[in-house]
Amino acid sequence: MSDLVAFAHALPKAELHLHLEGTLEPELKFELARRNGITLPESSVDEVIASYNFTDLTSFLAIYYPAMRVLLTPDDFRDLAYDYLKKASEQGTRHAEMFFDPQAHTSRGVPFADVITGYRRGIVDAARDFGIHGDLILCILRDFSAEFAMATLMEALPYRDWIIGLGLDSDERGNPPEKFAEVFARARREGFLLTMHCDIDQEGAIDNIREVLTGINVDRIDHGTNIVEDPELVALAVERGIGFTTCPVSNSFVTEQMKADEIVALLAAGAKVTVNSDDPAYFRGYVADNYVALAEQAGLGIDELTQLARNSFEVSWLSNSRRDAFLAELDEFVATWKAEHPA
Ligand code: ADE
Ligand code: ZN
Repeated sequence: MSDLVAFAHALPKAELHLHLEGTLEPELKFELARRNGITLPESSVDEVIASYNFTDLTSFLAIYYPAMRVLLTPDDFRDLAYDYLKKASEQGTRHAEMFFDPQAHTSRGVPFADVITGYRRGIVDAARDFGIHGDLILCILRDFSAEFAMATLMEALPYRDWIIGLGLDSDERGNPPEKFAEVFARARREGFLLTMHCDIDQEGAIDNIREVLTGINVDRIDHGTNIVEDPELVALAVERGIGFTTCPVSNSFVTEQMKADEIVALLAAGAKVTVNSDDPAYFRGYVADNYVALAEQAGLGIDELTQLARNSFEVSWLSNSRRDAFLAELDEFVATWKAEHPA
């Protein structure tokens, strides 16, 4: 392992763009299928991985949703979250803000309560076993109706202490942010923090980014790197300290590139860029793998990686006291590393 790879893995960081359903590794998929008496179309892990030939967001989602049918009981959701947090912790993650897609489960008859109580148990067990901190972000599926989104938000209110914010994911095509303006306004009134996916190279990307910044008034943007096409919007995002949760390896699966130039340009402009894994079981890379991939592509060194990790805590939705503690841990780690690895 090179020094930079070792540094990227050990660097204390927060992961802010991670779909729990996107952490379903083929091994766990087979285990859950066995547990729940489900027959899968594939007969081996290699066969499952061979089926991952996405060319864009739509073709990815067409494989992603059907795979979730093995998730049925609270224990299944618990194991999914626990396994992810274990792997994330092994890649230096100290805090994870994890999306979950309740509608992908309630729409096939799994109760909301089973989903969230399972995930919550996974988070509590992982905190006990690995010392990693985790929070949940309820993500609305934008290709369902605004009415279903509002009903899901209402269903979540009894669990609000376990949910820090509201997100928006799934297929952006034909589902612009304004479709959910009322749902997000209600979530804001209920005290949730807000973020929305602005996926890469979507039709109307700049209009959607402008709307999430100036209409919906989000706290963060997931992906969002097309903003570099509009310097005025970049200036606005920098002024407001908006976090961008970029996902280089994911980008290289759903478009033809990692979008490293755009990520580096945003970082250079002073935007609060972070690096994340999105759906690591599908894109075959966890968070530190994303730091390494970006560093190799863009020629970044430990100072830039440190800035990315610093941003991840700064734009996280942690309490001030926890954020300060993680930032102090980061500073101490980097100082020790530099003392032990003189340039
Ligand atoms: N669901 C899971 N990953 C996603 C992504 N990157 N964009 C939109 N929806 C998603
Ligand atoms: Zn995502």
